[in-house]
Amino acid sequence: MSQPRVLVASPVFPEVVQRLAGHFEIEAIADGEAWSQEEFVRRLADKDGALVMGGHRVDAGVIAACPRLRMVSNMSVGYNNLDVDALTAAGVQASNTPDVLTETTADFGFALVMAAARRMLEAEKFLRAGQWTRWRYDMFAGCEVHGSTLGILGMGRIGQGIAQRGAYGFGMEVIYHNRTRLDATIEAACQARYVEMPALLARADHLVLVLPYTREAHHIIGAAELACMKPTATLVNIGRGGLVDETALIAALKAGKLAAAALDVFEGEPQVNPGLLELPNVVLTPHIASATVPTRLAMANLAADNLIAFFEGHGALTPVNTPAARS
Ligand code: DGY
Repeated sequence: MSQPRVLVASPVFPEVVQRLAGHFEIEAIADGEAWSQEEFVRRLADKDGALVMGGHRVDAGVIAACPRLRMVSNMSVGYNNLDVDALTAAGVQASNTPDVLTETTADFGFALVMAAARRMLEAEKFLRAGQWTRWRYDMFAGCEVHGSTLGILGMGRIGQGIAQRGAYGFGMEVIYHNRTRLDATIEAACQARYVEMPALLARADHLVLVLPYTREAHHIIGAAELACMKPTATLVNIGRGGLVDETALIAALKAGKLAAAALDVFEGEPQVNPGLLELPNVVLTPHIASATVPTRLAMANLAADNLIAFFEGHGALTPVNTPAARS
């Protein structure tokens, strides 16, 4: 019997591609290459499965153009690039890579809190530019982290990890808002208190966004929300770019209505709003919150394992939908 055909649509660890090649007929993108969405769909048209990352969208149009497609394995925990309803309706299995990146991503979220609050990148640029000629009492004086109030919007596994770092490592008061309030035992383990959105915005000294991006969450932080925050507060986004109205954020940062921000994700990434690039009080990183070698390898292996398990008939290990059989 012929092997299922699988497309590896973004460059990934060669050893993972090699492992996949032991199970499937593989077409893998070359390192350094990037396929447009059109090219991706053209190559997917005769495949049974795909390993994708956030850069390619799989929606009803793509599914219609790919009649053999049975399985899409997303190498990320977020899967807003997949139209899960369309995949489910068409009988296509989808999976993501949760858990293996939780602690690494929480580390980075907390690093961004520190970087924004303590103005680390501004200070570093100043030093490198040779501008440090004398010590001043107020040089890069930032906001306090220890003992301050940490607000978390989106209290999944990563949000909980950030809460624990704040509560246990930095003696912070942790408040959170989530679609569903957590169990009392989880709240106790995270030392986190549930509050409604207005209280979260008004009380947080540092607000971290780590909720999934959905239509409802589009621009969940816009001009109105920013206006409710303390002018001394910082905002960190490690969720998805679309959670924040970047134009409103730029205006708030320029007007001193917010002390600083740190963004790992952007609305049009990899393009970045030029207004952000001009601001000294915003830390910008290229979507790297889960980027350590062991974690990215674990994500790639889990994405591969999902494909292997599915095509061996055991079902995906970390599915995001329960599709009917594809006709
Ligand atoms: C994720 O896993 O969702 C990260 O943002 C990487 O895409």
